[in-house]
Amino acid sequence: MLDKINALKAEIEAATAANAADVEALRIKYLSKKGEVSLLMNDFRNVPAEQKREIGQAINALKTFATEKINSLREAVENGPATDLNLDLSRTPAPWRLGTRHPLSLVREEMIDIFRRLGFTVAEGPEIEDDWHVFSALNFATDHPARDMQDTFFINREPDVLLRTHTSSVQVRAMEKHQPPFRIIMPGRVYRNEAISARAHCFFHQVEGLYVDKGVTFADLRQTLLYFAQEMFGPDTKIRLRPSYFPFTEPSAEMDISCDLCGGKGCGFCKHTGWVEILGCGMVDPNVLEACGIDSKVYTGFAFGMGIERITNLKYRVSDLRLFSENDVRFLEEFTSAH
Ligand code: DAH
Repeated sequence: MLDKINALKAEIEAATAANAADVEALRIKYLSKKGEVSLLMNDFRNVPAEQKREIGQAINALKTFATEKINSLREAVENGPATDLNLDLSRTPAPWRLGTRHPLSLVREEMIDIFRRLGFTVAEGPEIEDDWHVFSALNFATDHPARDMQDTFFINREPDVLLRTHTSSVQVRAMEKHQPPFRIIMPGRVYRNEAISARAHCFFHQVEGLYVDKGVTFADLRQTLLYFAQEMFGPDTKIRLRPSYFPFTEPSAEMDISCDLCGGKGCGFCKHTGWVEILGCGMVDPNVLEACGIDSKVYTGFAFGMGIERITNLKYRVSDLRLFSENDVRFLEEFTSAH
C-alpha cells in the first residue's frame, strides 16, 4: 500500500493544468468522494493493526500534498504564469535617453556652417597666450586698459603668460604663419577677469573672422555680415553698422541686427531702439598686417568678432549666462540632439 501511495504522490507532483477545467479534473481524480485518496481511505480498513499508524500518516500526508498542489495549480491558471520578475508585458518600454548637444555647440556649428558656405575654413589657436599675440601685434597701446590685471588673467609676468581675452589672437597666429589669401573663422574660449553674474562670466566663447586678400573692401565686409545675419536670424533681418573703435581695425564698426522680437518696431528686449548689437568688425589695421609680416601696400582685409553666448541668447532667449556652464540637465535637455 505504501508503494501505491508513493506512486500517486509522484503522479500528482508531475501533474500540470492549462486551465480551470484541467484543475477541476485533477481535483475529481484525487480528492473527490470517489477519488484516489478516498479509495485509499476505504482500503485503510484492511490494513493490519501494526501498520495502521504508518499508513494512516502517509495517506494524510498525500491528501495534504494533493490539496496544496491543486490549489497552487488553480492559482496559476487564474493569475497567469507566476514569474519572479513580475513583469507587466503590456507596459510601454522606457525610451532611450539620448544626449543633447550643448546650445553653445549647436550655435557654434551653425556659425561655422554659414561661413563655410562663403568659403571660410576653421582655424584654432591656444587659450594660454602671450602679450604679443593678444595685445601688441594687434596694435594695443602699451597703456591700453585691456592690458590691466583687472581685465586679464595673467599667469606669469616674465616671460609673460596670460589667458587670451579674445580670439583675435588667432588672427595673429594665422598671419604670422601663412601669407594671404586668408578666409578663416576662429571659434574658441576666452577669459576675462570679471565677477560672475547673469550678464558676465570669467570665461565665454567667441568666433573671430578674418578675410585678407588683394582688393578687399568694406563693402565685402558688409555683404559677408549681412549674409551671416540673414542665414542666422532669418531672411528679413536687417543690419546696421555704427562707427566704433578697436585698436586692430581702422575703420571699426559695431553691427546691430533688427530686433526679431518686435520686427524692428521697438520693444523691451531691444530697449525700444528696434536694434540689438551682435558684433564688432572693421578693416584690418595696416599696423597689424605689418606686425604679422604681411605687406599692407599689397593686401587689405576685414575682421570681425562676436560672442557665441550673445548669439545663442538672441536665438534661444537664455537670460542667465551662468546656465551655459552649470550643466543643469533640465536646461540642457531643452536643446536638440540632432542638428
Ligand atoms: N576682439 C573684440 C572683442 O573681444 C571683438 C572684435 C572686434 C574682433 C572687432 C574683431 C574685430 O576681429 O574686427 O571684443
